Amino acid sequence: MNTVRTLALAGALALALSAAAQPAGRKSWNEGWTFTKDGATRTVNLPHDWGVEQPFLLENPGESGKLAWWGQATYTKVLKVTAKDLQKDLRLEVDGAFSNAVVYVNGQQAGGWPYGYASWAVELNPYLVAGNNVIEISLDNKPESSRWYPGGGLYRNVWLTTTEKTAVAHWGSYITTQLLGEGRARVIQKLTLKTDYLQVADIHTRILYRSAQGEQMVAETRSTERVYDGKEIEQAFDLLDAHLWSPDTPSLYVARTTVEGADGTKDVYETPFGIRSADFRPDGFYLNGKKTFLKGVCLHHDAGILGAAWSDDAWTRRLQMLKKMGCNAIRTSHNPPAPELLDLCDKLGFLVMDEFTDTWTLPKKENGYATLFEDWAEKDLVALIHRDRNHPSVVIWSIGNECNEQGDSTRWHVAQMLTDICHREDPTRLTTAGNNHPFVAFTGYANTHDVFGFNYKPHTYKRFAEERPGQPFLGSETASCISTRGYYRFPVEQDKSKGWDMQGPYQVSSYDLYAPFWASCPDYEWQFEDEVPQCAGEFVWTGYDYLGEPTPFDVPGLSARSSYFGIIDLAGFPKDRYWLYQSRWAPEVASAHILPHWTWPGREGKVTPVHVYSAADEAELFVNGVSQGRRKKDGYRFVWADVKYKPGTVEVVTYKDGKVWAKAKQRTAGAAYKLAPSIDYKGKELTYVTVDIQDRNGVLVPDAANQLTFTVQGPAKLVGTDAGDPTSLTPFYSNQLPAFHGKASALVRRTGEGPVTVTVMAQGMRKAVITL
Ligand code: GAL
Repeated sequence: MNTVRTLALAGALALALSAAAQPAGRKSWNEGWTFTKDGATRTVNLPHDWGVEQPFLLENPGESGKLAWWGQATYTKVLKVTAKDLQKDLRLEVDGAFSNAVVYVNGQQAGGWPYGYASWAVELNPYLVAGNNVIEISLDNKPESSRWYPGGGLYRNVWLTTTEKTAVAHWGSYITTQLLGEGRARVIQKLTLKTDYLQVADIHTRILYRSAQGEQMVAETRSTERVYDGKEIEQAFDLLDAHLWSPDTPSLYVARTTVEGADGTKDVYETPFGIRSADFRPDGFYLNGKKTFLKGVCLHHDAGILGAAWSDDAWTRRLQMLKKMGCNAIRTSHNPPAPELLDLCDKLGFLVMDEFTDTWTLPKKENGYATLFEDWAEKDLVALIHRDRNHPSVVIWSIGNECNEQGDSTRWHVAQMLTDICHREDPTRLTTAGNNHPFVAFTGYANTHDVFGFNYKPHTYKRFAEERPGQPFLGSETASCISTRGYYRFPVEQDKSKGWDMQGPYQVSSYDLYAPFWASCPDYEWQFEDEVPQCAGEFVWTGYDYLGEPTPFDVPGLSARSSYFGIIDLAGFPKDRYWLYQSRWAPEVASAHILPHWTWPGREGKVTPVHVYSAADEAELFVNGVSQGRRKKDGYRFVWADVKYKPGTVEVVTYKDGKVWAKAKQRTAGAAYKLAPSIDYKGKELTYVTVDIQDRNGVLVPDAANQLTFTVQGPAKLVGTDAGDPTSLTPFYSNQLPAFHGKASALVRRTGEGPVTVTVMAQGMRKAVITL
């Protein structure tokens, strides 16, 4: 029988904030693996991506980043256990292995999982002996299996989990919450237990509210259960004064469940969760009953220098920068993310579209997911849902992206089957898909998922809202505007295909007017969002540049190796449209951003249009103090199309409701004179150092491309460098690289305690040193 007890908020206050999800017996198993590939063997720590350790090679496909991520490899590690350990259950948990993983224990096949983005586990006991055991994970990345850079290796965390025989099963908790009004909420936890023999156990769950002050118990329940293997129980808790989770207030709770047997504690299992309601309605998305526009970006899983290797620090840096832009949502295009990405989204406050796959049964790549679909789709999707269903950040499941079954009515059952699996495993969330085929929105296909997702079809939002008034919808992929940070082309043309030159340089003008034929600039999308308020949100392609897909320069023989789609470049430097999105998504931020830069030797007297991004409603532009006119926005930006370039300053004063709102200024730079390093982001292990090349007066030299050399002293090592140039073939692991449009970034990993200095040098300039 369940006893439910509600405690007032003044409950017990525990001091320590405990770590994320899972059983108490879960330990990191990342250190000291022996990695063998192409006949060479060395020791690595996980997460490890072998692809990003390779040089960029011109002859490799640009589509997947010009890095050799394919091939076969093995990771081995010795697991030492005692006879006593073997009385417990030992489980290897792999958050992601690229790909076709097979696990051998002492030479015997013990498990594995082919989909490189899935998380999975292997029960080790049947294969273990007391003493040393060799655990080997073999991987096989087939070429022609990905439309972007997938990475290679044990690129996410690996865990060794030890539990008693009687315990909460792997991913064995499922928490749902209901808002009851007046600050009350009901929390329901379903638990699946495992055991090796029938027994009576006491299942005690405490609900703790986590805040900066620590943990505070707000409810608890205890029940005595006859536990058999696979036993499911349900516990309910009524909370007063519930702290609701939202992007602005990402309040988190944890359910701490203790399993007590006759002879003592069997398991302590923690499930972090949040209390919120998330409803897609025909007129938009509602979070906790409040209409909330999904201001989202799509993200691939690589993080530049680190490739696909997961890093809490790298992703905290990335998400924080998106947050400042006003972004409140992430689409994990086009695959299950690292589980820690969702932990960060819970903590920092992002709404997540959690996506399953890029392909169903009809192939996009010869060796892609279509080859796995029949045998693995259900297992992969169930694994995704069981792993991720407790995250408050996850508000919708995406069953797929641009799967070609859309256009073939004899195959719509595939989409329906996936939606049915989602509903079966998680009745609290709806499904969507990224759809690109024209007009499928108006066929029976649209019934196969709950929320219709449009990739690049904002011009059909209105018709959809009128013809399918009962079905919610959103822009699952929007814009796909392309640009290169710091690169501008003249004359500035409005035609979206005129922002680049296939003869080179292989860069795209940063006026944010350019896109491939299927895509558009941000402004185009927004017209339709404003016209059709039923649209629940948008997910811009993409938040960050990523390795691979260097559209429009994905041509054999060209060096382009990473995308131009990002709002932020691969090195983590915002491009101009960062401020365009900020002006719309975070209109409370009083800022103004001028483009282009104002250093144009040779353009004196030539028309050099100036655009300003700001949430203001009027703006006046000055060149060397001379007004170029005070005006309102042309659509979503301020435009002065006829400005003639004169060296000096270009300055804007913006106004909102007649009052000065924000000002900005660009100055013409002189010759490159000094190196200005700064700490861009400092995490637990990783520090990103940015170097700006400045003139004598501290103005960024916008075309500086000086060769830089980085060295690190102290207990740390240089992981790599990047400057955000999508055409650069300088390997990430190099300590030398040319600056790109005046900037470069170096990534340093701390390996011990003590002072660390980073020195940067360039010919003809004084070296600069920064202490971390
Ligand atoms: C979409 C696709 C994405 C990416 C994008 C580039 O059609 O879903 O994965 O390829 O185009 O614009």
